Formats: sequence, C-alpha cells, structure tokens
Amino acid sequence: MDADALWVNARLLTFDPAVSAPYGLRDGWALAVRGNTIAAVLPPDAPEVRAFTGRVTDCGGKWVTPGFSDCHTHLIWAGSRANDWQDRLTGVPYTEIAKRGGGILSSVRATRAATADELVALALPRLRALAAEGVTCVEIKSGYGLTTADELKMLRAAKRVAGEVGVELSATLLAAHAVPPEFAGRADDYVSLICSEMIPAAAQENLAEAVDVFCESIAFSPAQCDRIFASAKAHGLAVKGHVEQLTNQHGAELVARHGGWSVDHLEYLDAAGVEALANAGTVAVLLPGAFYFLREKQQPPVEALRNAGVPMAVATDLNPGTSPFASLRIAMNMACVLYGLLPEEALEGVTRNAAKALGRGDRFGTLEVGKRADFLVWDVLHPAEIVCHLGVTPLAERVVLGCSRGL
Ligand code: NIG
Ligand code: FE
Repeated sequence: MDADALWVNARLLTFDPAVSAPYGLRDGWALAVRGNTIAAVLPPDAPEVRAFTGRVTDCGGKWVTPGFSDCHTHLIWAGSRANDWQDRLTGVPYTEIAKRGGGILSSVRATRAATADELVALALPRLRALAAEGVTCVEIKSGYGLTTADELKMLRAAKRVAGEVGVELSATLLAAHAVPPEFAGRADDYVSLICSEMIPAAAQENLAEAVDVFCESIAFSPAQCDRIFASAKAHGLAVKGHVEQLTNQHGAELVARHGGWSVDHLEYLDAAGVEALANAGTVAVLLPGAFYFLREKQQPPVEALRNAGVPMAVATDLNPGTSPFASLRIAMNMACVLYGLLPEEALEGVTRNAAKALGRGDRFGTLEVGKRADFLVWDVLHPAEIVCHLGVTPLAERVVLGCSRGL
C-alpha cells in the first residue's frame, strides 16, 4: 500500500454517506495517509494493515472524526459590543439598537479605525480557540468595513490569521451587511458600489470565494440582494445569505434560485423556502448562538428541513454582537438543546454538511479516500460526549494535512 502513516485500532466516525451505520461508524478500522490525503480506510484484518512498515499510531479504540468546519463566522472585528448586550438584557431590541446606529455600525466604526495588524492580533486568539476544539476549516466574512478599502483590509486580515493558525480558509465578502452611514437613505447607491467596485476588487485580488448578504427588513431587500448575487456570479463567486433571521423576506428562495451554497439563520423559514432548498441542494446553516444571545423565541423549522432531506450545518456565527463565543462545540450543544438536533446531526453539521456549505464537499468533511487528511482523535466513551460535555475538550490528537499538530 502506498502510504506514509497509519492510524489503527480506531472507531472511525466517517460520515461517509455510503456507510449505513450511525455516524458512518467503521469500528476498529484503520486510516492510511499519504502526504496530505486519506489514502485508504481499511478493516482491521486487511492484509495492507498487517504488512505496513511505515509509521503506525495505535488509537487504542478512541473515536476519530473528520476535522470540523465552522462555516459561518465574522471573526475579524475591533471594538466591543458588551454595551449592546447590556442594553438587550434590559429589554432594548436588536433592531432598535441597530436603528440608533449601534449594533453592526458600532463595530464598523471600530473596525475602520483599526489597522490590518491590529485586526490580525485581535482575531488570532479567536481562531486559535476554534482550532483548539478541532476546527480545521473556517469561513470568515468581511462586513464591518463597508468601504472597498476596509472590506479588503478585513479579507486580507482573514487570510493572514488563517495562515498563521494553519486552518483552511473560505473567505466571504459581506459588504451587504449594513448600509454605511455615508449612504444613509441611499441603499441602492451602496448596492451599486458593491456590484461595480467591491465584488470586482475582491474577485480580482482573489480575496473572497463567495458573496454573502444580510437579507432583512433592517438591512437589504430581496431585490437588492438579487442584484448583488448577479454581480457575484458574473465575477465567478459563489453566493449565500443571512436570511429569515428576524422576519420572512423569502431570501432562502432567492439564494436557492441562484444555486447558492448556503442559507443561514432561518428562524422564519416557511414551507416554500424549505422546498426551494431541497430542490436546489442548498445547505441550511443553523446558528443557535445568535438565537440564544438575542433570546429569540422563533425556532427554525428543523423537523421540516429534516423531512425534506435538506442538509443541515451548524456554525458559531462568531461575531461581537449577536454571537460572541468562539466554540463550535457549544454551538453544536445549543443546536441539540435549543433546536432538537440529535448529536449525530450536530456532528454531521460541522463535518460533511459544513464542508458542503463551503463548496468543499469533495475535499473535506468525511473520512473517505481522496479527502484531505484532517481528522480528530477523541478520548470519549461515546460520540455524543463530543457535543454534550463542555468545558474540557477531550481531544487526544489533531491531525491537519496528514501531520499531527499540538493540542
Ligand atoms: O449573523 N445577522 C447579521 N449579522 C450577524 C450579526 C452581526 C452583528 O450583530 O455584528 C449575524 O448574526
Ligand atoms: Fe452572521
């Protein structure tokens, strides 16, 4: 067998759709790695395992998952939104804070004032915290710059942070996060700037692979998002959307019509939206952190998504305002406790389905031959413990690109 290293005696949670056991379990199997790629997934008695003379790691019956993908973060920002949180605790709604120029726009002021070096220094601990829990692929959005220069500054910072931590990056231009103050009352003009200048610049410099929008009553209308998506696609970028978070604007149908990678939040998604996602193969990304921090009552239609066979992912939405926490395990836990996902669905939501939400289903998210050799060895008695037990991270080993990394 042409491989450099072998992990044996593992309980592989492959999430390979071809394996019918829960979690795609291959109990006691071995994982062979060549370079940075999974070369073979072998039963314990395979002759290749016995004949192998290279480096062997005995997992001692521990559980192995694919590396995690956090498919929705805004982890580049400066400043603090603790005051927003305090106001919300006394009953001021998120929408009211936004209208007063707080919320996203207060992070915009602080982020514009920060240098790229400052943004990198602030973001490094956030990404390191995600990586320490097993994130090997992260999506990072712009959206607190809202000028061409500041949006590109954020995207360059994202690239540096991911490079420094050694995590695969999927960068997203979210210029349509809020209407900046200098365009107040002229949202359509700002959308024109996004389409004619920001998207072309991000594409040209290869700083983003997707374009996101905040399709909401307090942000951008479906018609404005439609223009942005058309421009994104004309520049070869994928599309996705923050949709149906606070109201139902039928943003999911719009993203589905554009063949988008994912729709995110979805608290107010209706039956027509679910059907559109099922038909388009768009991933439904659940963000229970924002639901929790905003003390929302409206739950996303998990049962309908499940019944329709829409792939569901789970992400942190790590941001300074509505989801200020850097833990994908807490996000999974919230998805189970608050939304009723099963632990297997939560784990599938940060592996196979999160990779699909980032257009990386062919390279990430399962333990299958040809996938990138990013995997996690867990010292737990049951896979659900990865989602259930918080506070101590029971990771025994973290392998990225075929190499064992520190914990
Ligand atoms: O995903 N919904 C819009 N964007 C973020 C919130 C960002 C912020 O409040 O700074 C979200 O929840
Ligand atoms: Fe978000």
